Amino acid sequence: MAASRNASAPHASPSGHASAGPHLPAPSGPSGLITDAVLREVKPQSRTAFLKAFMKAPVQLGTCFSSSPALCRRMTAQLNLGEASVVFELGSGTGPLTAAVLRQVRPGCRFFAVEMNHELAEGLRRRFPGVSILETDATKLRDLCRHEDIAPGGVDAICASLPYMLFPKTLQREALEDMHAVLRPGGRMVMLTYWPEEIHPRARAWRKMLDGTFRVVKRHSVVWANLPPAFVYLVEK
Ligand SMILES: C[S@@+](CC[C@H](N)C(=O)[O-])C[C@H]1O[C@@H](n2cnc3c(N)ncnc32)[C@H](O)[C@@H]1O
Repeated sequence: MAASRNASAPHASPSGHASAGPHLPAPSGPSGLITDAVLREVKPQSRTAFLKAFMKAPVQLGTCFSSSPALCRRMTAQLNLGEASVVFELGSGTGPLTAAVLRQVRPGCRFFAVEMNHELAEGLRRRFPGVSILETDATKLRDLCRHEDIAPGGVDAICASLPYMLFPKTLQREALEDMHAVLRPGGRMVMLTYWPEEIHPRARAWRKMLDGTFRVVKRHSVVWANLPPAFVYLVEK
C-alpha cells in the first residue's frame, strides 16, 4: 500500500457537491494527504467524540462504542475492495471502518462515507481531508446515487453500520430495497449488528427481510474482540 494517498484522486466526489440540495452540504474541504498513520490511528478524542454523540442521540448511534479493528477487518475482508470502483460506507461515526476501507481501495475508486450526525461528519472531514463525506440520510441510497451520477446497479460494495434493528419496519424495507437497487449483480454489502438472531425476534425479522431481498445471505461467527461483541452479515445481490 502507498505510504500516503492524494485524496483528490481516489476518493473525492467528481460532482463535488457544488449543486448540493438541502440534505447534501458543501464539499468536504480542501484536499490533503491522508497518511498511513491517519488510517491506522484510533485517537482517544475520537472515542470521546463518539461517546458525546451517543449521549445526545443514543438511538441514532445504536451503541456508545465505535468498532474495533477486529470488527473492521472482519467486515472489509468480505468485500474484495481492491477490485471495487464504487464503494459506500453507511454510518461512518468517527471513522474506524472508513480508515479500514481507505486502506484497501485502489486509486480511482469512488468512495463515499455517509454520516448524518453533524459533529461526527465534521470530525470525519478533519480526519480524512478530501474524502467525500455525505452528511445525510444513508438509508436513501437511490437518491444519493442519483446525486453522484451513479447509475442504478453501479455500486460494487457497501459497508453498513446503521442501527437497522431500531428502525421501523417500513424504513428497514425501504433501506434494503435501496441497497438492492444500487448494487450491481454480484455486488456485496456487509453490515454489523449486536443483536443475535437466537435471542431477538427483531433480529430474526431482519434476517427474514435480508433473505427475501438478496440472493445470498450469510452471517459470520461472532466477533468477540468488540464492545459489545458483534455479528457481521454478508449479502450478495
Ligand atoms: C453503530 S454507529 C457505527 C459507527 C462507525 N461505523 C463504527 O463502526 O464505529 C452508527 C452510526 O450511524 C449513524 N447513523 C444512524 N442512522 C443514520 C442514517 N439514517 N444515515 C446516516 N447515518 C446514520 C450514527 O450517527 C452513527 O455514527
